[in-house]
Amino acid sequence: MGDTRPDAHTLAGIPVVVRWADLAQDADGPPAGEHAEPDAGYARSLLTPFEFARYETLRPHAARSFLAGRSLLRELVAAIAAVEPTDVTIEARCPVCGGPHGRPTVVSPAAATPLQLSLAHSGAVVAAAAAWENPVGVDVERADAAHAPERDDAIAAVAGASGDDPLEHWTRVEAVLKADGRGLRVDPGRVRIRAGDATGDTVDAWIDGDEASPHYALASIDLGPGFTASVAVKT
Ligand SMILES: CC(C)(COP(=O)(O)OP(=O)(O)OC[C@H]1O[C@@H](n2cnc3c(N)ncnc32)[C@H](O)[C@@H]1OP(=O)(O)O)[C@@H](O)C(=O)NCCC(=O)NCCS
Repeated sequence: MGDTRPDAHTLAGIPVVVRWADLAQDADGPPAGEHAEPDAGYARSLLTPFEFARYETLRPHAARSFLAGRSLLRELVAAIAAVEPTDVTIEARCPVCGGPHGRPTVVSPAAATPLQLSLAHSGAVVAAAAAWENPVGVDVERADAAHAPERDDAIAAVAGASGDDPLEHWTRVEAVLKADGRGLRVDPGRVRIRAGDATGDTVDAWIDGDEASPHYALASIDLGPGFTASVAVKT
């Protein structure tokens, strides 16, 4: 998968590594690599049979993005845990229905299983994040200027606001919900972000009404023009 760009962050003292790829710029593909047919042979070598069954249900663009996400995660885990990428097995299994979707986890090698992972897809961009032991969440959204007013109204209605950029707010909310692990099974309107109280580059967040009430440190990630992205880590 072409060039991927690693980016090391420290959020509330916790190291988090983010890596992303732009399939439209993929050096392995034709000019618009995101539209290339996914490679089923590569998929078989990368995915467990459980995840390959999911891959086979996806349309070409989603299948290619799914493969890119798993490939990014494998590279990320290999780099952080100092193991060979081919030794890394990733799987997502839904805690609600047991299906092949949900938060991705490291199945092997054993030394890398404490690594916590997250993924986000938007258009041709795929972003992955990892941290040792502290759950992480990453979210990326393509900034579509043509539909900004309707989009911003929809975000405010569903998730309230923090700061002055609704799309950034939404990526913060989704990053927190992914780090939490329940995703949109939690009402996004319950995510609270301490606006205007940033420590360094990080922002404090929590989920209102949760008994344990853990906190999350949030930071913005620069994926280049046209994209807004955030990463969250449970502190
Ligand atoms: C997680 C979620 C917010 C992401 O939605 P999205 O904006 O459409 O998609 P994104 O590209 O930003 O993120 C997708 C990635 O989120 C991750 N993800 C999915 N569910 C997740 C969860 N519960 N917690 C953390 N991460 C999750 C996956 O890695 C997925 O990528 P992959 O399918 O390639 O592995 C949404 O899919 C969700 O809430 N899912 C869970 C809902 C649920 O549990 N339903 C019960 C089903 S039986």
